[in-house]
Amino acid sequence: MLLARGLAWSGLLSAAWGLATNEALDFVQLEKRTNCPTDYTDYANVSHPPLSEGKYKLGYQRPPAECRTFVSQEVENKIEELKGVIEDPDLFRLFENSYPNTLDTTVKWRGKAKDSDEELTFVITGDIDAMWIRDSASQLHSYLPFLTNATAESDSLASLFRGLINLQARFLIEWPYCNAFQPPLESGLEPVNNSDASANTKVFPDPDNYTVFECKYELDSIASFLQLSADYYEKTNDSQFFSKYQWTDAVQTLMTVVGEQTYPTYNEDGSIVIAPYTFSAFTNRGTETLNNNAYGNPAAGGTGLVRSAFRPSDDACIYELFVPANMMLAANLERVIPIAKAIKAPQCLIDMMSKRAKLIRDGITKHAVTSEGYFAFEIDGFGSINAMDDTGVPSLLSAPYLGFLERDDKTYQTTRKRILSTSNPYFMKGPVISSISSPHIGPGWGWPMSTITQILTSDDDEEIKDCLRTLVSSTNGLGLIHESIFTFNEEAFTRPWFAWVNGLFGEAILDLYQRKPELLKTSFQ
Ligand SMILES: *[C@@H]1O[C@H](CO)[C@@H](O)[C@H](O)[C@H]1NC(C)=O
Ligand SMILES: *[C@@H]1O[C@H](CO)[C@@H](O)[C@H](O)[C@H]1NC(C)=O
Ligand SMILES: *[C@@H]1O[C@H](CO)[C@@H](O)[C@H](O)[C@H]1NC(C)=O
Ligand SMILES: *[C@@H]1O[C@H](CO)[C@@H](O)[C@H](O)[C@H]1NC(C)=O
Ligand SMILES: *[C@@H]1O[C@H](CO)[C@@H](O)[C@H](O)[C@H]1NC(C)=O
Repeated sequence: MLLARGLAWSGLLSAAWGLATNEALDFVQLEKRTNCPTDYTDYANVSHPPLSEGKYKLGYQRPPAECRTFVSQEVENKIEELKGVIEDPDLFRLFENSYPNTLDTTVKWRGKAKDSDEELTFVITGDIDAMWIRDSASQLHSYLPFLTNATAESDSLASLFRGLINLQARFLIEWPYCNAFQPPLESGLEPVNNSDASANTKVFPDPDNYTVFECKYELDSIASFLQLSADYYEKTNDSQFFSKYQWTDAVQTLMTVVGEQTYPTYNEDGSIVIAPYTFSAFTNRGTETLNNNAYGNPAAGGTGLVRSAFRPSDDACIYELFVPANMMLAANLERVIPIAKAIKAPQCLIDMMSKRAKLIRDGITKHAVTSEGYFAFEIDGFGSINAMDDTGVPSLLSAPYLGFLERDDKTYQTTRKRILSTSNPYFMKGPVISSISSPHIGPGWGWPMSTITQILTSDDDEEIKDCLRTLVSSTNGLGLIHESIFTFNEEAFTRPWFAWVNGLFGEAILDLYQRKPELLKTSFQ
């Protein structure tokens, strides 16, 4: 009987006991766990020696090798390789800390489904102890360059991806409207309380709290499952895997939700269309409940766009035809059609996917491009638009990264210029960071996620260098990327342990290594 790594961290101890009695587990090796941090949130909030040798003196924030939750030799080799490439010592330190953060700290449990050879992977966000569909798909996406084949080895990235696809499929078949989940039963881990949840939260359909951590309907969760699937398939050509478990069922369920969520608020005779999903809560934050008596603000039907109740920030949409998630969905429906064809999924499902992708693309062109030639962030289909961008990917800024369009697309370039200026009501400025921000934390807080997205979508060397300088100089000496930073004071920041954004930063560095390696020689001293 083998135990998962890194279990000494507080809150994970009970997991160790759970695992010890679970015969289905045969994956991860028992490791020496004596020097492991007891809580990585606290660990990440303090600088650890040896400090980097540049002026920012960034701590070394990787947990000791024996405590890491997953080890990929390919990722380790790449970090080692870049040591000789990134010349600025602080920038290299930020990369070596942040890129492996998901693998080092958040693969909370791996195992197999009860009485089955089906792999399962449970990946938490970091300091929020639950698995988000979007975050976990994005967290693994960061390591895609090292996924090269469908090897059955249980310690491979391929196995990690398969396990996540299987677990997401299981969750989404049961609760397709939900965004964040509890550990699977097989893990023996206790469900955790969602202490951030507002009092008296009422959701329809009403989820069970042993499976669901939070049930905010976010269209990008659906797109993220498709992205994760396409990521694995495009690298491995492993169609067999997709026909073996519940993948087709999951896609069918999600396509039903997508169809339901094109509903208009009113029928032609004026009666209210029965909403397939409603959400309300007692809260002092306008973004934590749905307006219009839990329905969300009205949206017109017939635009081709699909509604989303919440944004990727988990904040409520103002207008529910949320454009970035529609972009992400269209791009990823197109990417998974080859899987559906390879496994001979029902033709009507394949037709539905390609039709939906086209409807969304046409709908965005027709309804979401303003007369000034930029993309709206949200529309209601009645003529109202929300002209802004929010930091959370999918965002308008990330449209090329999502695979929806090319970087040099004219509408995108017009949009980009606008959202990276004070014409965007959520653009935050200050001496520490100037970036696209979010109502999620509030006024005055800049978000590194959009600074990173800026790098991933720019061809301009000076812009990229400015972004790198911002990132390397704004970690409060901790050497990890934070969720948000007060634009006038780097000591004020949120979420010391937010794995997704750290992996995204690593992606941006690897992207530069391919596209513009000379920029990795820049000094930020
Ligand atoms: C991180 O440390 C600072 C003090 O340096 C403290 O104010 C803050 O609450 C800590 N954050 C967390 C999440 O523990
Ligand atoms: C498949 O990937 C693994 C690493 O995950 C690697 O060790 C192995 O050599 C690869 N096999 C082939 C045939 O490329
Ligand atoms: C789930 O809900 C029940 C009943 O409201 C409550 O007693 C329990 O503590 C909740 N569990 C979690 C993990 O939130
Ligand atoms: C969750 O919170 C409820 C009450 O708020 C408490 O009764 C229950 O024990 C908690 N469950 C866990 C797993 O902490
Ligand atoms: C992918 O796998 C299928 C069989 O499942 C095979 O026919 C095809 O040649 C493979 N394609 C590549 C590029 O390896």
